[in-house]
Amino acid sequence: MNTILKKIDADNMTSEDFAEAAKLLQEGKLVAFPTETVYGLGGDAYDKTASARIYAAKGRPSDNPLIVHIAEIEELKNLAEDIPAEAYLLAEKFWPGPMTMILKRKDTVPKETTGGLDTVAIRMPSHPIARRLIKEAGLPIAAPSANASGRPSTTKAEHVMEDLAGRIDMVIDGGSSEIGLESTIVDLTVKPALILRPGYITIGMLQEVLPDIEYDKAVLKRVKDETIVAKAPGMKYRHYAPKGQLTIYEGERTAVISKIVSEVSKKVNEGSRVGILASTDYLNNYISELGLDIVGKNARNSNVSENDILEFENIIIGVVGARSDEATIAARLFDLLREYDTKNIDYIYAECFASENLGQAIMNRLLKAAGYHIETV
Ligand code: TXA
Ligand code: MG
Repeated sequence: MNTILKKIDADNMTSEDFAEAAKLLQEGKLVAFPTETVYGLGGDAYDKTASARIYAAKGRPSDNPLIVHIAEIEELKNLAEDIPAEAYLLAEKFWPGPMTMILKRKDTVPKETTGGLDTVAIRMPSHPIARRLIKEAGLPIAAPSANASGRPSTTKAEHVMEDLAGRIDMVIDGGSSEIGLESTIVDLTVKPALILRPGYITIGMLQEVLPDIEYDKAVLKRVKDETIVAKAPGMKYRHYAPKGQLTIYEGERTAVISKIVSEVSKKVNEGSRVGILASTDYLNNYISELGLDIVGKNARNSNVSENDILEFENIIIGVVGARSDEATIAARLFDLLREYDTKNIDYIYAECFASENLGQAIMNRLLKAAGYHIETV
């Protein structure tokens, strides 16, 4: 299958730009599109064949439900029933935006779309291209993240092409996804409501509307523990994983730096290629303690924005941002994880970015990517 790559400028778009994409979706075909969180792989949410095609294209297990994307709050009642008042309170505050709600599924939505569940995940994205696409197609769009199953989610059309070219009908290129991590998922079919996946909308923000909301146990887990079962089926699979083995070190600044420096030196001596996921705060320490010669090696223009990657002979340093700037860390994380694969890195060492805010979402993804390899030093 030939995958059409269609560039659309969100600041200057017309119905004509969406004509082919809308037609493809109406025919049950697949169109990847940008959202403010990550790119989505879209199909008609009412069409079970389209959902089956999504699973096949991603290589995704079919018990892992899709998120249905809508453009107006009124569409909620076409997809869900027994909608609690809390849903409208959350929708009013956080939609359009990076929050997904789990509600009771209406029979209009085929079980193929919801991975066999009697509940349905619904989100109204804020990205203008995503909303316009939903409107032009005249359909709710079922869309998981537009990556091959198990790989980091995609925040750029070129990454979608890397994973899915030849397997889907079209990719709409609308530039980089601003947030870079998937939406916060809130389960409203239980009381108190539970956060099944942390995201840009933090627990503190949600508590302003639902004071008793809590994290699902699986979200907070820090170690590999098979007895804690994730309620969002997708959270149980190997996820976001780069090919290289990722380890996270947690502790005081100097302890983390010396541990990473000693691990990197050891692996390089053994002949491996090694990556560091570094903050700007610690960057100069890695460079000086590893004795790296930065002259002339400074930053290469890559998929990640300029100056984010420092490449040495057997070491690459991905600079994820300042430790206090969680929004930047979130936006760069998946891109950097993909970059280590491009560079055939065998081992990756990361700092820990825990906090009550966006740090929860960052660590949730990083821990999964690391297969829960985290060490306190
Ligand atoms: O930001 C996002 O949410 C992106 C963009 C494209 O909207 N989408 C996304 O989809 O991340 P996906 O398929 O990668 O993740 C959906 C998650 C999975 O972990 C899935 O198990 C969970 O949502 N989910 C979907 N429906 C559910 C349901 N009815 N009950 C519990 N979890 C559900
Ligand atoms: Mg995903």
